[in-house]
Amino acid sequence: MRTGVESWGEILRSSGRGYEDPWLERWQTLLETSRKIPILELGCGGGQDTRFLTELGFAVIAADFSNEALELTRRRAPEAALKNVDLTRGLPFPDAAFRVILASLSLHYFPWSKTLQIVQDVRRCLQPGGYLLARFNSTRDPHYSAAEKQEIEENFYLVGGMPKRLFDRTSVDALFREGWEVIGADERVTLRYGGEKVVWEVAARRADG
Ligand SMILES: C[S@@+](CC[C@H](N)C(=O)[O-])C[C@H]1O[C@@H](n2cnc3c(N)ncnc32)[C@H](O)[C@@H]1O
Repeated sequence: MRTGVESWGEILRSSGRGYEDPWLERWQTLLETSRKIPILELGCGGGQDTRFLTELGFAVIAADFSNEALELTRRRAPEAALKNVDLTRGLPFPDAAFRVILASLSLHYFPWSKTLQIVQDVRRCLQPGGYLLARFNSTRDPHYSAAEKQEIEENFYLVGGMPKRLFDRTSVDALFREGWEVIGADERVTLRYGGEKVVWEVAARRADG
């Protein structure tokens, strides 16, 4: 299984060419709640979303475990702060440090127990009432549903040696059942990685009590 950082460079260098995928436009009202606090982006990849945010004047901390991703992001969005973070090792940020955390296509590489743990860690880093905006591969994604893959656990596969989790409504609901209020969760099509990709787009609010 190729779980290391080294696999990501080639994928990320080819993403976003000629298509900017401005999926965050519909969430601008929510993003505005973080005008005074940096937005944390987890798994920033090539930095497309980082640039979208910095061009709107938001302060952003862009995190990834791939130095190549961080370098691409530095070139695309030089105003962003960069941090090398491995999501599987716990987020190196204090409790309630952020109003908005973004994770586009970066939380779907892990076994279910680890995925739950990461999302709870994201919740810890959000202020009460703060927001997570996230996108996940869908079980209806035409690329992955057709791809040759080896199942590791339910909806979690090795595809070309890379781990990939695919989400359906049940797993999105399960992931955000404890401690979250889901504001929006629907399937959408993105072209960021070339062909049509079906993703779950989720906005969830940290709920307390
Ligand atoms: C498909 S890319 C998504 C990039 C970007 N957010 C986007 O929407 O285009 C997935 C990103 O998650 C990062 N990633 C994967 N596993 C990670 C981990 N354990 N810790 C931190 N980043 C990780 C990869 O390095 C890659 O940049």
